[in-house]
Amino acid sequence: MLDQRKVPLLAAMNTYVNDEVIPFHTPGHKMGKGMHQALADLVPQKTLALDLALMTELDDLHEPHGPIKAAQDLAADLYGADHSFFVVNGTTGGIYAMILTIAGPGDKIIVPRNSHRSIIGGIILSGAIPVFMQPEVDNELGLAMGVTPEAVSQALAEHPDAKGVLIINPTYYGVATDLKKIVDIVHGHGIPVVVDEAHGPHLKFSDRLPVQALDAGADIVAQSTHKIIGALTQCSLVHCREGRIRVPRLKAMLQLVQSTSPNYILLASLDVARMQMATQGRELIERAVDLANQARQEINKIPGLYCFGEEKLGNPGVYSMDWTKVTVTVKGLGLKGAEAERILRHKYKVQVELSDVYNILFLITLGDTEREVEALVAALRDMAATHHGTRDFSAINSIYAAGKHPASPEQVISPRDALFGNTCMVPFRDAAGMTCAEIVTFYPPGIPLLCPGEKISQEIIDYCHVLQQAGLHISGPEDYLLKTIKVVD
Ligand SMILES: Cc1ncc(COP(=O)(O)O)c(C=O)c1O
Repeated sequence: MLDQRKVPLLAAMNTYVNDEVIPFHTPGHKMGKGMHQALADLVPQKTLALDLALMTELDDLHEPHGPIKAAQDLAADLYGADHSFFVVNGTTGGIYAMILTIAGPGDKIIVPRNSHRSIIGGIILSGAIPVFMQPEVDNELGLAMGVTPEAVSQALAEHPDAKGVLIINPTYYGVATDLKKIVDIVHGHGIPVVVDEAHGPHLKFSDRLPVQALDAGADIVAQSTHKIIGALTQCSLVHCREGRIRVPRLKAMLQLVQSTSPNYILLASLDVARMQMATQGRELIERAVDLANQARQEINKIPGLYCFGEEKLGNPGVYSMDWTKVTVTVKGLGLKGAEAERILRHKYKVQVELSDVYNILFLITLGDTEREVEALVAALRDMAATHHGTRDFSAINSIYAAGKHPASPEQVISPRDALFGNTCMVPFRDAAGMTCAEIVTFYPPGIPLLCPGEKISQEIIDYCHVLQQAGLHISGPEDYLLKTIKVVD
């Protein structure tokens, strides 16, 4: 192992600043001196001095040979990759690059239907054709879980010409599928496994968490270092293994989706976040898991609230769980998730990570202590004591109990062609047979019913109508009432 206590990029930046050089280079604010006071007041001078630019001694993100290369090599060493790359355009940028690496125009890529929009974005940019796998749905929670190994096998059997399979590990709500088994199945077909591990840069640091994708044998992985561990917002890592992917192409694609002027403070934050995980990761993540489990236990004692846990393990699509994601189902209080979110924010000054129709999600990370967790539990206890109305969720429940979620529609043109083609708005009720040019998703469970390039069927129109009648939240279409829909002209 390399010396993981080192932070080569931050060290090079500090050396440059301490040398008191006269900077005739970007950024134009020249270490803060030219900056308006309104901004200078916000950012400490020490930080402004470190807002530096590409130069020989600070290296070039796109052709690294110096401190950025050393910092990336340390990340690869820690996570067990052949190569790791710093990304300052979020995991979104990493996912674009990964998809562009394995698929070009007309190539098929197998992806879960509940993919994050960055995956659909990558598919649009590449011109690839998505083959969707339906994830399992937990009707009690109204949440999409993982895709099963069986769903992956079936997609591969039906599309043996696919160029790769993309898996989410774990979902936003912390649910992981049997990734090792999936990797074996996909590799058996000789193609790579790409993993959206936006929510998994910490998995390696606790044996109680799902296996991280690289350890399960995945070929390319993007992790949001900023979401879960200590880097600044926008900072992610892409890791890869040689063999099934072309590393020079991955490098070229990372160049394509990122600025030629990456922010050095962001890059340094990746360097430091990696060092922090290498030197203290186990202790910090184990503590976060303990805190989250403690919260889960206390929340489950509160009448009207439910925080799912071990009892869901073994259900379809639920192989293991990231315990640091604390999902609280509030429908027992007669509240929708968004209502509980507002109450918590304004009455208790507690902000959730997200809410959906039935649930609110809290992230417990290395930044939390017992104090925050106690405040959270106290707020939930008080909210539950003061809101115990009933609400009729039976319309939603009966739809999902019937389990009639329609299969993905026929993909007639690529999402890219649908997006860039001539489009027009037509009444949704008359749209059967037309090609959709936008995404239509209902929550719960947040699995798109229509994606760009898909043929709209009467079955889908009728099903959307039922969901609208039940009052489900629509996301995606330009006309959020779905009276009209954008189609390819
Ligand atoms: C599952 C998943 N993948 C990818 C992303 C994109 O990550 P980023 O916000 O770092 O671009 C997100 C963001 O929420 C996500 O939840």
